[in-house]
Amino acid sequence: MAHYQDQWGNPVTASGDDAVTALDRTIMAYLGFRLDTGNHLKDALKADPEMPLALIYSGFFFLLFCHPKMHAKGLAARDHAAMVVAATDVSSRERQCMAALDAWADGDWHRAAAAFENILLDHPLDAMALRLSHYLHFYLDGGRAMRLSSARVLPFWTMDQPGAGYVQAIHAFGLEENGEYAAAERHARAAIEINPSDLWGIHAGAHVMEMQGRHRDGIGWISAQADNWASGTNNFRFHVWWHRALFHLELGEHATVLDLYDREIRAESTEEYLDITNGTALLWRLEQHGVNVGDRWVELADRSAERVGDHLLCFADLHYAMAFGATGRAADSQALLDAMRRGNVDETCAQGTVYRQVGIALSEAMIDARAGLHDRVVDVLLPLRHQFALVGGSHAQRDIFERVLLESALAAGRSTLARSLAAERIDQKPTSPYNWQAHARALELAGDADAAASAMQRATVLAA
Ligand SMILES: [Fe+2]
Repeated sequence: MAHYQDQWGNPVTASGDDAVTALDRTIMAYLGFRLDTGNHLKDALKADPEMPLALIYSGFFFLLFCHPKMHAKGLAARDHAAMVVAATDVSSRERQCMAALDAWADGDWHRAAAAFENILLDHPLDAMALRLSHYLHFYLDGGRAMRLSSARVLPFWTMDQPGAGYVQAIHAFGLEENGEYAAAERHARAAIEINPSDLWGIHAGAHVMEMQGRHRDGIGWISAQADNWASGTNNFRFHVWWHRALFHLELGEHATVLDLYDREIRAESTEEYLDITNGTALLWRLEQHGVNVGDRWVELADRSAERVGDHLLCFADLHYAMAFGATGRAADSQALLDAMRRGNVDETCAQGTVYRQVGIALSEAMIDARAGLHDRVVDVLLPLRHQFALVGGSHAQRDIFERVLLESALAAGRSTLARSLAAERIDQKPTSPYNWQAHARALELAGDADAAASAMQRATVLAA
């Protein structure tokens, strides 16, 4: 083993230069959501089967799946990496990276994120530490730490460094989740200028347009870049198509949404949690818009049933609950809720805490919403809504829970609450036809027919 530097000048221990350059390629491919990421990592491990950082990264990659089989491989990779790190004269950076993997594998996502942040203090050009802490912050606190993390390293990145565009994209998304839309868009555009196939940059820009209700801009933004990112990238591309579908949905272009669902978003019946959440969240919204989605729920519920006992990511489980609720699968719903109540009671397990604080109640509410228990859903969700961010995910993704609260208030005949919730939404996104339609329905319920007609007219004009 010898000490090298990676292409950013970070210390790395390996038996030879080939392994180091293969790991550099791995990092670039991972940042770009490239399908060949695993191949580059295999190259690194082929060149040096005991390369500490390559073994550690393989552990992260397995854990990122949030899938039991992959999780088991992640734990095995952790053990292997720990043995090698203990027996090797590695840098402090690599030791801290091992500590991050240890914490993550033990379920302590907060400690893992802190380890990455610690690495970044001394090694702000460690793009993997930045990207992985970005991921953990995304599912831990709803975004503030994510936005600060990238801000701290930004001064050290110049545009000519490899991966500089990816860092722009990471910062863009953190800014967007914190409501700093103009700055977020600037950074997203900077990312795409450097690298037009940067999925995270496209995604960050799409989020800005989603939050600002710029539906047509969003369709144009995603479509204009599609030739660049639609091939060679992993399943995250389905999520970008999901964003495009949301824009079409707002415009009432339901046939286009269903077409995107069938051709891109759910063309393959995959078991990846993000893919299932995309499908579930879209079918649910379509039905809120009065669209008949046919038998599409069945495939999602079947896939969700395979993952009932995972208990690795609350955000994913919530969507499995939605699929069971939508298909009326009481036994699967019960099994999922039982698993949520049973698992991860250790206080250091970040996801276990999320389940207990909000996940179980939220899952029950989503199931109840489909069972027509509207009052109960309102009574559970209303006091819980300011904690929705604890489940992680983006504002756009969590909006489904806000929508369920509003729809349940409408269905329960609670007109003043529904009117207030719709007014909130209009204030946040005045160009949303859905928000005006919901407001119209609430006003109708409250007996204000003239105001309801006016709100509906507004919705029609916005969708035209
Ligand atoms: Fe997104």
